[in-house]
Amino acid sequence: MIEVQALSRRYGSRLAVNDLSFRVEQGEIMGFLGPNGAGKTTTLRMLTGYLSPTSGEVRIDGIDSVARSMESRARLGYMPEGVPLYREMRVYEYLRHRGALKGVRHVSKAVDRSLELAGVEDARRRIIGQLSKGYRQRVGLAEALIADPPILILDEPTSGLDPNQIRQFRELVRGFAGDKTVLLSTHILSEVEAVCDRVIIIREGEKVADLAPGEAETSLEDVFAELTASSNGGGVS
Ligand SMILES: Nc1ncnc2c1ncn2[C@@H]1O[C@H](COP(=O)(O)OP(=O)(O)O)[C@@H](O)[C@H]1O
Ligand SMILES: [Mg+2]
Repeated sequence: MIEVQALSRRYGSRLAVNDLSFRVEQGEIMGFLGPNGAGKTTTLRMLTGYLSPTSGEVRIDGIDSVARSMESRARLGYMPEGVPLYREMRVYEYLRHRGALKGVRHVSKAVDRSLELAGVEDARRRIIGQLSKGYRQRVGLAEALIADPPILILDEPTSGLDPNQIRQFRELVRGFAGDKTVLLSTHILSEVEAVCDRVIIIREGEKVADLAPGEAETSLEDVFAELTASSNGGGVS
């Protein structure tokens, strides 16, 4: 479970995230939708403990992400925007390395399991830099899964993929429903419709909607179109 309470982050005079509160329940796949510059990455980095909040609180399964950052981080798998990977390593070597850094026991087994979950087993011996972007994204997902965390935080995981790779990636994430808690950011409305149980829409750092699927059916498109239209010039990251 993820609980965010009155979270704000300032960069100099710019308020990138403004008094944001929301909750993601266990086993839920939550979309975090907003145009470029809305504050998605800033929020996710605070959730994962890589960036400290200016104010507010984050609790990961009840654990305060600042006061007990090591414990809260251990419950999270994080796939950052643009997944930084060691391009010269083989896939399994890279995952072993990341697993060891995270203190994963029985690393070989963990690597096998995460490769399978991320649908990337057939590439285990390939050099990362020689993989297609779709496969590299899945290696990023395998890395997020290496310590078998109950919570996954995925920052625009399908950006740069072709339609086929996007469909495969969405199916993978959909398969986590009911098992893992997932928070997935995107600026693409159809992504949320294809993958998520619920959606939070943010604009200029503020939450402007929190919708369940039923209520989202008819209104989501209108809500998002209106928001993105009026937020042009709100900053590009
Ligand atoms: N390190 C930083 N320093 C200053 N401003 C930043 C920094 N990172 C992001 N911002 C600004 O904060 C706002 C939110 O950015 P970001 O969280 O990256 O949005 P998103 O991920 O939704 O595109 C943008 O206006 C961006 O320019
Ligand atoms: Mg971003």
